[in-house]
Amino acid sequence: MDLKQQAALYALRYVHSGNIIGLGSGSTMALFIEELGALLKSGELSDIVAVPTSDETAQQARQAGVKLSTLDEHERLDIAIDGADEVDNNLNLIKGLGRALLREKVVATHAHEFIVIVDNTKLVARLGKRGPLPIEVVSFAVDSQIRWLTELGCVAELWLSENGSALLTDNGNPLVRCWFDNGIDNPKHLASLIKSRAGIVEHGLFLDMATKVIVAHETGITEMERDD
Ligand code: A5P
Repeated sequence: MDLKQQAALYALRYVHSGNIIGLGSGSTMALFIEELGALLKSGELSDIVAVPTSDETAQQARQAGVKLSTLDEHERLDIAIDGADEVDNNLNLIKGLGRALLREKVVATHAHEFIVIVDNTKLVARLGKRGPLPIEVVSFAVDSQIRWLTELGCVAELWLSENGSALLTDNGNPLVRCWFDNGIDNPKHLASLIKSRAGIVEHGLFLDMATKVIVAHETGITEMERDD
């Protein structure tokens, strides 16, 4: 079985009947949602209400027969489950290469537990080593944001779709991708700098948020947990 699928299947042990859950986005989550739907159909799970983090996830959940809701109706989630693009030893993450980082962060913030499911290719010694950091910005003055981000020590570029236009999030905003040659030196410092910049909506650094990371390896599943 594919490693992403193994992580997705394993995570279902943390979902209980009656739970209100956050559903992340991406290919690992698509597998999780499919399996969640199967458990609902078989009656092994019931009364699950889910808050989706993207239009695509909402669509997948609807097809799987998962009841959807919003944070306006359910402010407190029992758990949020999501994939990640990178995970370091302290359970800090880069997310957003599925373009859903803003809603993913909002949903995770409302959850009692935030469980991340990945295959072992996502594990890194240093965030930013494996790929870019995605950053959602408003379209107003986007070139100026790119110049400012470049001054922070990365190669920043507007994320373009195949037809050459700016790729937009479900919120209608463009994304900038920041490539760091040797990874990110100090993710906390970088996160606070980026967050304080007017015109930047959100970034893909998820620091001190994950309570558990489920990692699928060829040799089996391991769980990483935060000490505090
Ligand atoms: C979506 O915006 C992302 O944060 C995804 O969770 C992340 O890109 C992982 O995606 P895959 O499960 O497709 O690898």
